[in-house]
Amino acid sequence: MTETVSELVAAAEDTLSSAHVPYSEYRVGAALETADGEVFVGCNIENANYSNSLHAEEVAIAEAVKEGHTEFARLAVVSGARDGVTPCGMCRQTLAEFCSESLPIYCVEGEAVVEYSLGELLPAAISEDTLTESRE
Ligand code: THU
Ligand code: ZN
Repeated sequence: MTETVSELVAAAEDTLSSAHVPYSEYRVGAALETADGEVFVGCNIENANYSNSLHAEEVAIAEAVKEGHTEFARLAVVSGARDGVTPCGMCRQTLAEFCSESLPIYCVEGEAVVEYSLGELLPAAISEDTLTESRE
């Protein structure tokens, strides 16, 4: 892994300025490190119809997957308020499509970085196994 946790957090922070948040005014940045050490970032992109808003984590994972990366090592998430925001339920499930329960997720609260694992944030995620086992 090429990045330190603070470098990964800094990459998430750098993308906050690109967030398109005219409705909530709540910026979120995410930095997702691939298993081979590349980092893909995302910010939230809101929409006037509200429901089409893209979450920072979704944008980061889409950027990585479209470049052929499907194995991930770590994720950092930060909001402009540095309030310790964690990925929402939808983003947790999106991450679970590609990441194991052990994926470390670093969330920024003030000057502190709180570490969670994906399994801790989303136990018993639905997975491909859930669907294939039900066919047997
Ligand atoms: N948001 C994210 O980008 N990621 C999350 O998982 C939590 C919520 C965004 C969506 C919306 O633009 C703003 O934060 C307020 O919910
Ligand atoms: Zn989300």
